[in-house]
Amino acid sequence: MGKVHVMDHPLIQHKLTLIRDKNTGSKEFREMVEEVSLLMAYEVYRDLPLKEIEVETPMGKAKGYTIAGKKLGIVPILRAGLGMVDGMTKLVPTAKVGHIGLYRDPDTMEPVEYYAKLPPDIHERDLILVDPMLATGGSASAAVHYLKKKGAKSIKLVCLIAAPEGIELVQKDHDDIDIFAAAVDERLNSRGYIIPGLGDAGDRLFGTR
Ligand code: PRP
Ligand code: URA
Repeated sequence: MGKVHVMDHPLIQHKLTLIRDKNTGSKEFREMVEEVSLLMAYEVYRDLPLKEIEVETPMGKAKGYTIAGKKLGIVPILRAGLGMVDGMTKLVPTAKVGHIGLYRDPDTMEPVEYYAKLPPDIHERDLILVDPMLATGGSASAAVHYLKKKGAKSIKLVCLIAAPEGIELVQKDHDDIDIFAAAVDERLNSRGYIIPGLGDAGDRLFGTR
């Protein structure tokens, strides 16, 4: 069973609270989502393998470490996942970015796929699937299915806010996926919105409310 990592770092919690605030406008919302994503990336990349190298300092030789050539891929679920890409790639600028377009049908709450473009070698990459909201889990689970169908072997899911229902579905459908979240909220409402959540992440990011 994949693990659920809830990131309780004070900076993440402080910024997440500003993101939740209904009075936070799109500009600040976008900036804060990027910052929280960067802070989360720091922890998500914790298990990157290192190799030992020698480095010459102005004072002589020193033992050092470098990331051991791991290939990474960031895959945002469109639209709202786009808000997390810059934060995730800032620390690892060589990561390739794939995109999966899914929207949730407002009536059935089922995910509908409309776009996908992935790096050709995703089977060799450690993939980080990003989407601010894990609500029913339908979108994330469908995205993981799609990535696996295309050959992905290693996938982590990173979201800002998860609902217990979404975690349960992803764990039921994919027992090999670790989930990273800044918060696990109480529940979903009857329209599949996370309570208390932050509202509609895509609309708040892009000002389409
Ligand atoms: C939101 C969110 C997730 C999905 C979560 O996207 O960004 O992708 O809903 O819900 P689920 O866990 O119940 O599937 P939405 O469908 O609103 O599309 P958007 O990002 O284009 O606004
Ligand atoms: N999608 C969102 O953007 N917000 C929610 O609370 C649930 C799904």
